[in-house]
Amino acid sequence: MPLNSDTPLILAIETSCDDTAAAVLYNGKMLANIVATQKIHEQYGGVIPELASRAHQQNILPVVDSALKQAGKTMKDVSAIAYTQGPGLIGSLLVGCQFAKGLSAALNIPTIGVNHLKAHIGAHYLNEVPPQFPFLCLLVSGGHTQIVKVTNHLEMEIIGSTIDDAAGEAFDKAAKMIGLPYPGGPLIDQLANKGNPMAYKFPIAKVDGYNFSFSGLKTSILYFLQKHKAEDPQFIEKNLNDICASIRFTIVKTLMQTLERAAMDLNIKEIGIAGGVSANTLLRDELMTTGIKNKWSTYIPPFEYCTDNAGMIGILAHYQYLIADFASLNDMPYPRGL
Ligand code: KG4
Ligand code: ZN
Repeated sequence: MPLNSDTPLILAIETSCDDTAAAVLYNGKMLANIVATQKIHEQYGGVIPELASRAHQQNILPVVDSALKQAGKTMKDVSAIAYTQGPGLIGSLLVGCQFAKGLSAALNIPTIGVNHLKAHIGAHYLNEVPPQFPFLCLLVSGGHTQIVKVTNHLEMEIIGSTIDDAAGEAFDKAAKMIGLPYPGGPLIDQLANKGNPMAYKFPIAKVDGYNFSFSGLKTSILYFLQKHKAEDPQFIEKNLNDICASIRFTIVKTLMQTLERAAMDLNIKEIGIAGGVSANTLLRDELMTTGIKNKWSTYIPPFEYCTDNAGMIGILAHYQYLIADFASLNDMPYPRGL
């Protein structure tokens, strides 16, 4: 297949979960980044995979169209089409993958299958000052919690991960227990800003290595709420901000203490966070203060590249393009793995 440029124009598509997103990058610089969030799942308190796939089918063409328009480009200008290959919901992934392959066959240009988790970390490459290699990245999303050692743009090694729930999942499940709508992570964050993080004490799990566990926290929040609601049915309403602040404090402390230990053991001072939970205000503040204490250089991707987006898929695809790491027509999406 002919390559039409050393400075590629990449059309990137992200459909791993419940956001339909498209971005256009020229030579690694963002020209357009569009995200259509699917509101339909809110009423169910979580993502319904079948509804997500159907919504992706409806959204994908208008989203790709708006991204190209915003970038001032047409399909003919595109050098390669990147899509999220996994991990994610299989039905959702299939929509983006098949759309990319159909379009690439029509345009006779290559496709690039991008790993969603690597792309979350790759969002750092969009920073004006990106981290220097090797750097450590705490990747915290709705489905994953990992500490990853990044040795070059594309080479990443997981050195720790959750043994049960992800940090975003812990936020969302806690939010559901206190009656907040899905996704509850951002809401807990907002309410926590008005509360006292020391009001209630929740346990921090001790796990081997640089791994995490959040299932014990979930159970302890459940028992805590049951006990207090039995004494006062209005307990949650009266103490909402303090409950949120205490939960947020526990999750962020769990993450930061393991990240700090890993950084010290590996003697790495270039430290970043990525993924949806890196939008959390306390986590961002704690990264800064822990960084100052340890003389780290700290990195947080621009806000719009923290939660799911196609810009991060596009920047990783840019580096894959440069080494001609193209997908074949037979490559299928994979639901799991880095
Ligand atoms: O990376 P992401 O957009 O999607 C996945 O790949 O999972 O992450 C979504 C997760 C959700 O669990 C959401 O509640 C959480 O990120 N999240 C937050 C915040 N913003 C998003 N959690 C805590 N505080 C936030 N400000
Ligand atoms: Zn994600």
